[in-house]
Amino acid sequence: MRTRRNLMIGGGGLLLAGAAATWLGLRDMGSMQDYTAAVTALRAALPARPKAADLIRFATLAANSHNTQAWTFHAEARSITLAPDRTRATPVVDPDDHHLFVSLGCAAENLSIAAASRGLPGRLQFYARGGGVVRFSYADGAAVDTDLSDVIALRQSTRGMYDGSTLTSAELDRLAMAARLPGVDLILMTDHGQMAKLADLIAAANTAQIADPAFMAELKHWMRFNPRDAINAGDGLFSATTGNPVMPDWLGQMMLDWAYTSKSENTSNAAKIASSAGLAVFVAAKQDAEHWVKVGRACQRFALQATAMGLKHAFLNQPVEVAALRPALASLIGLPGRRPDLVMRFGRGAAMPYAARRPVSAVMV
Ligand SMILES: Cc1cc2nc3c(=O)[nH]c(=O)nc-3n(C[C@H](O)[C@H](O)[C@H](O)COP(=O)(O)O)c2cc1C
Repeated sequence: MRTRRNLMIGGGGLLLAGAAATWLGLRDMGSMQDYTAAVTALRAALPARPKAADLIRFATLAANSHNTQAWTFHAEARSITLAPDRTRATPVVDPDDHHLFVSLGCAAENLSIAAASRGLPGRLQFYARGGGVVRFSYADGAAVDTDLSDVIALRQSTRGMYDGSTLTSAELDRLAMAARLPGVDLILMTDHGQMAKLADLIAAANTAQIADPAFMAELKHWMRFNPRDAINAGDGLFSATTGNPVMPDWLGQMMLDWAYTSKSENTSNAAKIASSAGLAVFVAAKQDAEHWVKVGRACQRFALQATAMGLKHAFLNQPVEVAALRPALASLIGLPGRRPDLVMRFGRGAAMPYAARRPVSAVMV
């Protein structure tokens, strides 16, 4: 029987539980429904007659390193200039701004494809000023590339397991054709023996990175562990997008120290690679900011073409980030002496939650 005393104890218990939950940070973690609503709003369809802000919104949906969105956009009549936002650079994992310019290239390609699909085709040009900017100049013309534009908002880095199925050579050709760009070589690897060798390099690089306190500190800075923090920041790597649980930030930071070990990560990556249809390695003809932008453009086209074909993709860039392992990777793909730029896996698998983006107003200057 619920007596008054029972009720009071119950009420006190509830209060205590409430206080404990507040202290633990469980209360205000936000909900996945709110998170999904926020990320879906930024992925709304491109209008038939887009303004510069609409095109820029589509540009920001591009792949980018650590989801720092280290870019700004300056719109003028018939041109949009993309520049690096160095306040969002990641100097530990990316000391020479390689990933920063690749990410700029990914955004530039999205911008160009989105504009062309709405009858505003244009040219992307690299200028060396200020360390490097990309200018998209456009004019009225025929609508093209609509297939790729239609999937810009659907593309995601899908870091889960794939289903192990293979691709036909015609499907592999379509991917390679979409990514073809002068100045960038693409190596597609579908032999599982070769893929396992690349998995070993990824594991070696991953082990080195996890053992590096500076790498882990930078990674932690960009991690988001719950929907509220992910929505508020609009950037970073949200645990739910990799299939991991949501939790208060303090707990997430601690869990990263305890549970994110090279052993667990290497086992998981090896299984994910084995479940993939293949691996793609992008290699620029030259190593400078202009060519890194080209690599970004090529890989974004590859990712969009894969999405249009119902395929998923995810990056595994550890052996290009750990400089000491680049020569072994270059030899494995038959390009000794070159510097590989990106490693991606691709295949068929289930979608994961989308990554957040900052609003367009935050990136327009
Ligand atoms: C240059 C570059 C390097 C990246 N490196 C990795 C990586 O090593 N591992 C990974 O899981 N994702 C990597 N990514 C993917 C980004 O984390 C991802 O694009 C970002 O979080 C946004 O998510 P989205 O691609 O789903 O929109 C990389 C992306 C780029 C452009």
